[in-house]
Amino acid sequence: MTNLVTAWKTAQATLKAAGVDQPSIDARLMLEAAAGATRMDILTDPYRELTPDQQATFDDFIGQRARRKPVSHILGRKGFWKIMLSVTPDVLTPRPDTESILDVVLPAFPEAMAFQMLDLGVGSGAILLAILAERPAARGLGVDSSSEALAVAKENAANLDLNNRAAFLHGDWTAGLGDGQFDLVVSNPPYIPTKDIDTLDPEVRDHEPRLALDGGADGLDAYRLLAPEILRVLKPGGLFAVEIGHDQSAAVEALFRQAGAGQVRTTKDLGVRDRVVTGFKNPLETGG
Ligand SMILES: C[S@@+](CC[C@H](N)C(=O)[O-])C[C@H]1O[C@@H](n2cnc3c(N)ncnc32)[C@H](O)[C@@H]1O
Repeated sequence: MTNLVTAWKTAQATLKAAGVDQPSIDARLMLEAAAGATRMDILTDPYRELTPDQQATFDDFIGQRARRKPVSHILGRKGFWKIMLSVTPDVLTPRPDTESILDVVLPAFPEAMAFQMLDLGVGSGAILLAILAERPAARGLGVDSSSEALAVAKENAANLDLNNRAAFLHGDWTAGLGDGQFDLVVSNPPYIPTKDIDTLDPEVRDHEPRLALDGGADGLDAYRLLAPEILRVLKPGGLFAVEIGHDQSAAVEALFRQAGAGQVRTTKDLGVRDRVVTGFKNPLETGG
């Protein structure tokens, strides 16, 4: 029989030897799930013994993680902003970096404001649902070309009781959407250059959907399509915010300026890396 603290320490060593990036955090998250323990239990009751079933579950989780399966896929969930999302191999695991979009968007929309938002490439629903959870009078549409991803997003909307304000559409970016409909458009499109995908960590390379990662030869394919289209579907005066790779600021800003956007700028994430390009549709424009 093993206790919580011994199980945690042993697992950390196993994960470290397997090259896992954050062995201590990952081992703790899986121990919490396997042993039905909270973070506080591990600290305040470290000698609590695991039952044989809990030990077997924990060993199985650690074995999977040592083979570089992401924690989100092992546990089937991932926290994002203030919400918990179901995650499957059909969706990108939501990243803390993407929370930067909320940092820049939320201050522009007062809490009681009623507005319409669009999330292009909604995946698990992370951005759309985190914003709707913060803004109770807002409504949103999530579009994705992956029907499997949309099924996950819909399940998440229902679990969070947001399905009455979130709608989902299976489609190719903005195809079929009318002009000037949205006050806010967000997107975290695929932006990794194709040739870089094989150099990524196994957790990403082998477990995340290619459709969520591959941004074409220079990583900018989606932005080329999206910049004019986002300006078309925004209402005059509307705001957009798109996530970018850390070295894509100049190129993506230029694409949005060419498309006619105003006040285009880049915001950094909590680290010091360029992460979000924002801008507005000219308030006087009526067309796209
Ligand atoms: C980087 S993931 C972002 C997922 C989620 N928004 C997030 O931030 O965690 C990009 C998403 O874009 C979707 N996608 C890729 N090509 C698309 C297209 N042509 N039309 C609509 N969605 C697309 C992918 O299926 C994937 O869900």
